[in-house]
Amino acid sequence: MTGRVLGVVGSGAGGVEDLLPCLIRPALEAGWTVGVTLTPTAGRWLTETGALAEIERATGLPVRVDPRSPSERSPHPPVDCYVVAPASANTVAKLALGLADNQALTQVNEAIGTHDLPVVVFPRVNAAHARHPAWNDHLTALRRAGVHLVYGDDVWPLHEPRSSPGKQLPWSAVLDAVNQAVPVPR
Ligand SMILES: Cc1cc2nc3c(=O)[nH]c(=O)nc-3n(C[C@H](O)[C@H](O)[C@H](O)COP(=O)(O)O)c2cc1C
Repeated sequence: MTGRVLGVVGSGAGGVEDLLPCLIRPALEAGWTVGVTLTPTAGRWLTETGALAEIERATGLPVRVDPRSPSERSPHPPVDCYVVAPASANTVAKLALGLADNQALTQVNEAIGTHDLPVVVFPRVNAAHARHPAWNDHLTALRRAGVHLVYGDDVWPLHEPRSSPGKQLPWSAVLDAVNQAVPVPR
């Protein structure tokens, strides 16, 4: 164990159903403690399939979807690095604007504004999302804030909607970005 804590944030985008085998388990095997937070959409999807309960069993921590009450303590330990994967176009846009109307956005927005707390984001978007007139400004805002974007034709070529169902996400590039952001302590 290295004592590093990874905050994994999943949103309502294709591939979120693979979070456990493709990102969480490899991170656990690499020595990370993993605390998972989902947007309400992703939380509903993974509750329906039973994947949310499996994630809780694997990580030993509750999956966060709803905000805590003021009287409750955070159920996750302090995080050393956040990774938002997959990030829907909606979640990327909200992060770029600093909107925090769910627990996942609340945590990641605060991390973006925290010194020395790396944030990795993999936008799982298609060509139509990327043609929205605000899209490039969102990416620029996040890059300027120091967010590491796993993005580009080499990692995730943009396709027209519905032309690439079931395409495997670039999980190894995402995990590499995380491990580069917070190297294993010697
Ligand atoms: C089956 C399904 C797959 C979806 N996949 C994506 C996707 O890959 N990328 C994306 O940006 N939106 C996708 N969406 C749309 C988002 O789920 C929707 O915009 C939602 O409001 C995102 O909410 P969240 O960002 O809070 O999770 C998908 C919707 C459905 C029903």
